[in-house]
Amino acid sequence: MAGDLGEEFWNERYSGQARVWSDSPNRYLVSETAELTPGRALDAGSGEGADAIWLAEHGWLVTAVDFASAALQRAAEHARERGPAVAARITWARHDLTDFDPGPLGYDLVTAQYVHLPSAVRPAAFGRLAAAVAPGGTLLIVGHHVSDLQTTIPRPQDPDRYFTGDELVTVLEPGEWQVVTNSVPERFSTDSDGRPVGVHDVVFRARRGG
Ligand SMILES: C[S@@+](CC[C@H](N)C(=O)[O-])C[C@H]1O[C@@H](n2cnc3c(N)ncnc32)[C@H](O)[C@@H]1O
Repeated sequence: MAGDLGEEFWNERYSGQARVWSDSPNRYLVSETAELTPGRALDAGSGEGADAIWLAEHGWLVTAVDFASAALQRAAEHARERGPAVAARITWARHDLTDFDPGPLGYDLVTAQYVHLPSAVRPAAFGRLAAAVAPGGTLLIVGHHVSDLQTTIPRPQDPDRYFTGDELVTVLEPGEWQVVTNSVPERFSTDSDGRPVGVHDVVFRARRGG
């Protein structure tokens, strides 16, 4: 993956013809939220909207945030294609997560999937996302594991942008949370030569008591 992964890089990437990501929701979003009761959800770094759309289709009222306006436009189109009932359940909003403050305790689910921020801003950004989780609500953060840099699958090249579940524990308010999932599962991806390659994700889910 080239570029500095800033807003310009992402807007350019989303401005091409082709879809960048699959129209299926992320697998750990589906598995980790399966038993939750739908309510208000915040999808941080929502990309082309597959997760937000899946959440809306499963009863959630979603706010989807990305700093790439091209992504938000594309995502909103995809939501409209799913019909007015789905589109009406999602609010698309342009914000930069490095200074975005969703406010305290407003969401039953806050999810960030494969958003790789630099370490200088990451704890504060994820801390604000955690603070936005309501009592009884869930924080779900998923990212690529740094060991993927040793594979032939394209990944952000800067090791500074990778986090661990143990780092994420440190952004939670002490005594308020129960960590439900802190794991590094393997899955298989296909490299540019068509070979199957084992890759790893950081999957972190915590529940705020209440
Ligand atoms: C790898 S993509 C993942 C998109 C989506 N979550 C998914 O899994 O399909 C990362 C997304 O995060 C967004 N992003 C990266 N840094 C951001 C920031 N500082 N503020 C807001 N969005 C950001 C990018 O525009 C991009 O859409």
